[in-house]
Amino acid sequence: MKFFVFTFMTIFCLLPATIKAQNAPNTPNDSIISNIFEQWKTKYVKGKTANIVNSSNSNAAFERLKKLLMSISKQNIRNGAKKSLFKMALNIRATDDETTRRKWNGLISTSYGLIDQVQTKALPMSFPPAPKSWDWRQQGLVTNVEDQGYYCGSCYAFASSCALEGQVAKKYGILKSLSKQQIVDCSKPYGNFGCDGGYIDKSFNYTYRNPGLFAEADYPYAGIDQNCNLTSNFSKSFLVNYNFIQGDEENLKRALYAIGPLSVGMIGSFESFYFYSEGIYDDATCTGKIDHAVCLVGYGTDNTTSPPTDYWIVKNSWSSDWGENGYFRILRGSNMCNISTYVAYPII
Ligand SMILES: *[C@@H]1O[C@H](CO)[C@@H](O)[C@H](O)[C@H]1NC(C)=O
Ligand SMILES: *[C@@H]1O[C@H](CO)[C@@H](O)[C@H](O)[C@H]1NC(C)=O
Ligand SMILES: *[C@@H]1O[C@H](CO)[C@@H](O)[C@H](O)[C@H]1NC(C)=O
Ligand SMILES: *[C@@H]1O[C@H](CO)[C@@H](O)[C@H](O)[C@H]1NC(C)=O
Ligand SMILES: *[C@@H]1O[C@H](CO)[C@@H](O)[C@H](O)[C@H]1NC(C)=O
Ligand SMILES: *[C@@H]1O[C@H](CO)[C@@H](O)[C@H](O)[C@H]1NC(C)=O
Ligand SMILES: *[C@@H]1O[C@H](CO)[C@@H](O)[C@H](O)[C@H]1NC(C)=O
Repeated sequence: MKFFVFTFMTIFCLLPATIKAQNAPNTPNDSIISNIFEQWKTKYVKGKTANIVNSSNSNAAFERLKKLLMSISKQNIRNGAKKSLFKMALNIRATDDETTRRKWNGLISTSYGLIDQVQTKALPMSFPPAPKSWDWRQQGLVTNVEDQGYYCGSCYAFASSCALEGQVAKKYGILKSLSKQQIVDCSKPYGNFGCDGGYIDKSFNYTYRNPGLFAEADYPYAGIDQNCNLTSNFSKSFLVNYNFIQGDEENLKRALYAIGPLSVGMIGSFESFYFYSEGIYDDATCTGKIDHAVCLVGYGTDNTTSPPTDYWIVKNSWSSDWGENGYFRILRGSNMCNISTYVAYPII
């Protein structure tokens, strides 16, 4: 991934006109793009994705790549000029059309139903002060980054189990990945749609009304729609309820510190987000539908910028090849991409 950016930026930086006109890079000629296309295929076109790229109109794929390379270049120039805090790079989605890209999302919309209003009434809605920075990864509450795959809009399963994994680790001292495939296969009667998307709270509701989730190892991820198959023993029933957090990001920061990793919705279908590679995501144009589910695991402040920049640390489910080893940082304090609009966590 980094290799492609390097190659491309090197070529771009050799064009003097580009360096002068910082905001308007020239389109590189097609032979350069072809080269990048070939390198990209060597790295990413394999297995099932090969069929998509090979059978798709390769001219169209080429044109999409060309357009994307321009966006990446523009963004990285903006980043170099300190007008934006993040960079972009190519990844496995580089030649996708917009519909195909959306398989990386899968949060249908938001819904705020609580399992049991009587129980949740007593749950805290505001929290005591928290330290300036915090990272649940350093406290052993976060499992390794996983990959929802190329074809499955199952972000909601990853985001909801992330918060549950954190609560299980906090309460029982056992950090283990729980089954996302079980949510994909078995939570349909609760209102989810398998690889066609779902909700965080309906995933919690499923887990609540059934004997918990299998361990990932007992019901492994396949990234396709399957029939629900619960023939082995459940590891344990954990979930007793779940709750939503409302309020500003200061309260959310306190909640994260008091509770653990939190499942959140966000606007996550912008090109700049699909191809984010590092830094603090701060795309001011990020408005629209909340369509992606992720997991807040920490927060901090980058004091190398002036003024210092507050950010969230967020776990995504697009493999460790994406972003900062599978994570991203996003601006904290302005509800960037509605990251603080839809927040939920399970109670065990
Ligand atoms: C494209 O750019 C490369 C590298 O600058 C150059 O070698 C090649 O001749 C150019 N091709 C065309 C068609 O302009
Ligand atoms: C797709 O194309 C790549 C290179 O362009 C090739 O290596 C691969 O075998 C092709 N895959 C299929 C399934 O045709
Ligand atoms: C949870 O699931 C049950 C059983 O399907 C349903 O009756 C209830 O309305 C659901 N609750 C929420 C908040 O979705
Ligand atoms: C269900 O899972 C068990 C293993 O847990 C496996 O042996 C069995 O073949 C599966 N059944 C179906 C219908 O996939
Ligand atoms: C399920 O658990 C019971 C009792 O703990 C055990 O005897 C049985 O072998 C387990 N079955 C499977 C499929 O793991
Ligand atoms: C800036 O951040 C670094 C690392 O997080 C920390 O070591 C340093 O003390 C901070 N400096 C100031 C002035 O806050
Ligand atoms: C996103 O957040 C803004 C406030 O920051 C709010 O006005 C808007 O309704 C939210 N969008 C959605 C889809 O909830």
